[in-house]
Amino acid sequence: MRIAAYERYGPPEVVAITDRPDPIPREGQVRVLVHAAVVGSSDSAARSGTPWFARLAFGLRAPKRHVLGSEIAGVVDAIGAGVTRFAVGDRVFGATGIDLGGHAEQVIVAESGAVVRLPASVSMADAVAISDGALTALPFLRDGAHVRAGDRVLVNGASGSVGAAAVQLAKHLGAEVIAVCGPAHTELVRSLGADRVIDRTREDFTRARGRYDVIFDAAGKSTFRRCRRALAPRGTYLTTVPSFAIMVQLLTSRIGGKRAVIMFTGLRKDADKVPDLEYLAGARRGGHVPSAHRGGAAARADRGGPSHGRLRAQGRERRADSVAHRDRSG
Ligand SMILES: NC(=O)c1ccc[n+]([C@@H]2O[C@H](COP(=O)([O-])OP(=O)(O)OC[C@H]3O[C@@H](n4cnc5c(N)ncnc54)[C@H](OP(=O)(O)O)[C@@H]3O)[C@@H](O)[C@H]2O)c1
Repeated sequence: MRIAAYERYGPPEVVAITDRPDPIPREGQVRVLVHAAVVGSSDSAARSGTPWFARLAFGLRAPKRHVLGSEIAGVVDAIGAGVTRFAVGDRVFGATGIDLGGHAEQVIVAESGAVVRLPASVSMADAVAISDGALTALPFLRDGAHVRAGDRVLVNGASGSVGAAAVQLAKHLGAEVIAVCGPAHTELVRSLGADRVIDRTREDFTRARGRYDVIFDAAGKSTFRRCRRALAPRGTYLTTVPSFAIMVQLLTSRIGGKRAVIMFTGLRKDADKVPDLEYLAGARRGGHVPSAHRGGAAARADRGGPSHGRLRAQGRERRADSVAHRDRSG
């Protein structure tokens, strides 16, 4: 099989297409022929080894795993002994987590892994968008902020993979959604269902007072200190990006009733991801969240990348797209 592999941390050029023998599934394992995968922010972190804490997961001096890609959709083409949950020919999708390996023609996953059957009506491209941003946004909104119908939720970084999913999921949960993004993405974000869109270059959302039940900084560009004033009295601030300040604020933020929350969704147990993948696939099948065609990493890769240029900068990884990410079934 062909794989997109790298041996050292560095710019996109460290990734190159190469051949490797087809992997054989062992007992309790499933081999998936990859039809679609994501090139996302976790791949950038694993490829570059930045920020520094990424190396705690991916290897201190050099990457421990050599094939990027943690969200996949495809078809089971071989199973190991004892596998009962899947059969050859099943359409499946899911997340390989820090095992990565999705930027390849075939990937081995555990039968007990974060992989579920994909409804026939959901495309492979939509499926990988689900397992990328939505699998992060859902636990943040549901478990971190306990979003309920009628809540006023602000999503910063609303055009990104996590943010685009958060906009759609917050709407799905019945919230009023205010979405913040760059000027190039306001129409995209409006099309995701946001009730109001703020161009971050024209308006500073943190200047509002007591306005939002939840501020979800999906891009991790703000701080709890800056956002605190804009939160309602018992509001919750969510951020995806760790910092020393947020770790301290996790402990102190209860004072005054406003909370700061950070989660590390990639580190959740596979057993916890499985019901979320099924929930999200069901929501997508019902015509709800999230759609790769309306937002998310898969769509942005297809369109040539967002204006902030991260995907455009990943030349080799985009070439890896053409190996591992083509959607053979639509
Ligand atoms: N904690 C966790 O469990 C977890 C899980 C997944 C991802 N993450 C982290 O979450 C972050 C977002 O991931 P992603 O995959 O959604 O990334 P992404 O697809 O690259 O999206 C990031 C978004 O940030 C926006 N942005 C850029 N500069 C900004 C600024 N100065 N202020 C506000 N927004 C800005 C960009 O949109 P505009 O140009 O339109 O503003 C972009 O769409 C990454 O740092 C990732 O590592 C954390």
